[in-house]
Amino acid sequence: MLRISLFSTVIFLGLLSCNPDKINPLDSLPLIPYPQNIENAEGYLSLSELTSISFNGAASSLVLEMKNFWDTSLAMSLETKPEGRLELQIDSSIEGQEAYQLHLTSKGVVLRAAGEEGLYRAWQSLQQILVFSKETGKIPTGTVTDKSVYPYRGAMLDVARHFFTVAEVKRFIDLMALYKFNFLHLHLSDDQGWRIEIKSWPDLTALSSDSEVGGTQGGFYTQEDYQELVAYAADRFITIIPEIDVPGHTNAALHAYPILNCDGVAPPVHTGIEVGFSSLCVDKPITYQFVEDVIRELAAITPGPYLHLGGDETQATPEDQFIRFINKVLPMADRYGKIPMGWFETRQTNYKGQVVSQYWAKEVDVPEGVRKGNPILMSPSSFAYLDMKYDTLSKHGLFWAGYTSVQKAYEWSPKTLVPSLPVENIIGIEAALWSETISDNSGIDYLAFPRILGHAEIGWTEDELRNWEDYKQRLQKHLVWLRSKGVAYYQSPLLD
Ligand code: ACM
Repeated sequence: MLRISLFSTVIFLGLLSCNPDKINPLDSLPLIPYPQNIENAEGYLSLSELTSISFNGAASSLVLEMKNFWDTSLAMSLETKPEGRLELQIDSSIEGQEAYQLHLTSKGVVLRAAGEEGLYRAWQSLQQILVFSKETGKIPTGTVTDKSVYPYRGAMLDVARHFFTVAEVKRFIDLMALYKFNFLHLHLSDDQGWRIEIKSWPDLTALSSDSEVGGTQGGFYTQEDYQELVAYAADRFITIIPEIDVPGHTNAALHAYPILNCDGVAPPVHTGIEVGFSSLCVDKPITYQFVEDVIRELAAITPGPYLHLGGDETQATPEDQFIRFINKVLPMADRYGKIPMGWFETRQTNYKGQVVSQYWAKEVDVPEGVRKGNPILMSPSSFAYLDMKYDTLSKHGLFWAGYTSVQKAYEWSPKTLVPSLPVENIIGIEAALWSETISDNSGIDYLAFPRILGHAEIGWTEDELRNWEDYKQRLQKHLVWLRSKGVAYYQSPLLD
C-alpha cells in the first residue's frame, strides 16, 4: 500500500514538473524591460501562500504599494510578519542603486538591493512575474539578477501645447513606474501657454496660462501642485525635470510681459502649431533678470539635479545673439545648484561646466561641436518622439520626422544610431511626447502606448538581449495587462 502510494506520488509530482503547460520557466515570462540575467530552478511557488511580508530598513511606502497590489490585483491580503514569505532585504554588497536580485524558491521570495530604489525596481519585476503567473497560481522559481544599462531612462510630457491636469500627470507617472523609468521631463512653457506659477512674475500665469493649441482652455500648476507631482514621482523613484524653453518658444512669456520684447509690444496669444517665430530680447538686461528669477524659483521647488532650459528652434534669434544668450543663462542653473540641460542646439555654448545636451535630430544628422565628456541624452526624433504618427492611418500625431511604427521605435540603439557621437558620453534615452495633437489621457495612451515600453527596454536592457521577434511576443502579453488597467493603447497591425 505504502509503496504504491509513494510510487503514485512520485509519478504525480513528475507529471507536474514536466508538464510545460502548467508552469513556464522563469526566463520565459514576458518581462519588460527584460532583465540582464535569469536562472531557472526546479519547482514552483504557490501564489496562494504568498500572504506575508517582512522587511529590514525603511521600505514602508513600497510595502504599502505592494499591499495595495495584493488587495486590488490578487484579491488577497498581504500581512506584515516578522518572518514573511516575501522578504525585502537591504544589502549594501549589491553594487548600483537600481540593481537588484530576486530569489524565488518554493518557500517564498526575497527581494534584495542596496537601497529602496533597487527594491522598487525589483518589485516592478516581481509584479510582472505575479501578473503573468496569476492564471495558474504557480510561480516559477529561480533567480533574477538585474541592473540598468543607462542611468537615465526618461519620458517627456509637453504640458504647454495642451495642458494636462495633476491627475493626468500622476496617471502617466504610475504607468512609467511599471516600466522602470526614472526621469519625467515636463515641458512647462512654450508659445501657446505658460504652465507653472512664478511668484515674482505673476502675469505669466495670470495672462498666459488659459490658452493652448486650438484655442481650448489651458491651465497651470501652482507651485504647490508642482511639488505634489515631484513628491508623487519621487515615491515611485522618478525624478521630475522642469523645462522652461528659452530664448525661443516664448510667445506666452512675451504676451504676458511686453517689456521682454525688443519693441516693448506684446504679441497676441498663439494657438497654432508653427514654431521658430518668437524670441526673448537678448540685448535687454531685464531678460536675464526674468530668466534668473524663473530659474531661482524653479530650482527651489525641484529637488532633482537637473533644470532644462530648452534652447531649440531659435530661428527668430540671430545665431550670435543665441550663443551669447545661452552662455549667460546656462551658468545660472549652476548658480542655483542645478545641472543645466538643453536641446542639442545648446552644445554650441562655451560654458565650461556640465551641461546635458539632448539630441533630437533625425539620425541622419552628423553632429559637430560635442564637447568631450559632455553628457548626451538620446531622443532622436524619428525613433523616440512619441508624437510621430505610427503610419498614414494614425488618428493623432505629426509626421515631420517620419512615421514611427512600434517596431521602428524599438529597433535601434542609442550607442550606434549616430556613429559620430561618443558612446561614453551617452547617459540614456528619453521618449518625448509633444502634445500638439493630443489633449487628454486617451491621446497620451494612443501615442505613448505601446511604443514607450520599447523605449523602457532600450534604456534598461543590454542591446545583445533585445530582439524584435522576442519582444513582440512579450509585448502582446503586456497589452492585455495594460487594457485591464484602462490604457487605450494604439492597436498596431504588427502585433495582431
Ligand atoms: C524639439 O523637438 N523642438 C526639441
